[in-house]
Amino acid sequence: MKILIINGPNLNLLGKREPEIYGSQTFEQYFEELKSKYAIIDLEYFQSNIEGELINKLHETGFNYDGIILNAGAYTHTSIAIADAIAGIKTPVIEVHISNVHAREEFRHHSYLSKNCKGIIVGFGIDGYRLALESFLK
Ligand code: DQA
Repeated sequence: MKILIINGPNLNLLGKREPEIYGSQTFEQYFEELKSKYAIIDLEYFQSNIEGELINKLHETGFNYDGIILNAGAYTHTSIAIADAIAGIKTPVIEVHISNVHAREEFRHHSYLSKNCKGIIVGFGIDGYRLALESFLK
C-alpha cells in the first residue's frame, strides 16, 4: 500500500512554530516513528510552502497511490485550485488539521477542500496523521 503525506505552508516549522498550538515535535521525528510503526506501508512525505508545488504533487501521485493525507495549512481556507486538484484525481484524500480549526479564528472555520475529501481529521494534534493512516488501512 502506497500512502503519501503532504504538508503545506509553514508546517516545515513544526516543533518551533507556536508549540502551544502545534506541539513541540518536528514532523521529521514524527514521520520516522510512523514509518517504523507502519513498516508494511510504503509511506512517503512531501512538504512545500508553494501552492503550485502542492498541486503538482497531487497530480503526480493522484492516479497511482492508494491514499493521500493532506494538511494544506492556510491554503485550506483560501485555495480553490487545491480543491480542484483533489476533485480531479482518483486517489482518495484525507484532510488533516493538527489544531481544532473550529475552536480558532472564524477564517479557519471554512475549508475549500473538505467537500472533495474522503474525510477530515481535525484537532487531535499530530496524532491526526496516524488516525488517517489507520483509516486507509481498514
Ligand atoms: C492547520 C490549521 C490552519 O488553519 C493553519 O493555517 C495551519 C495549520 C493545522 O494543522 O491545524 O497552518 O492546518
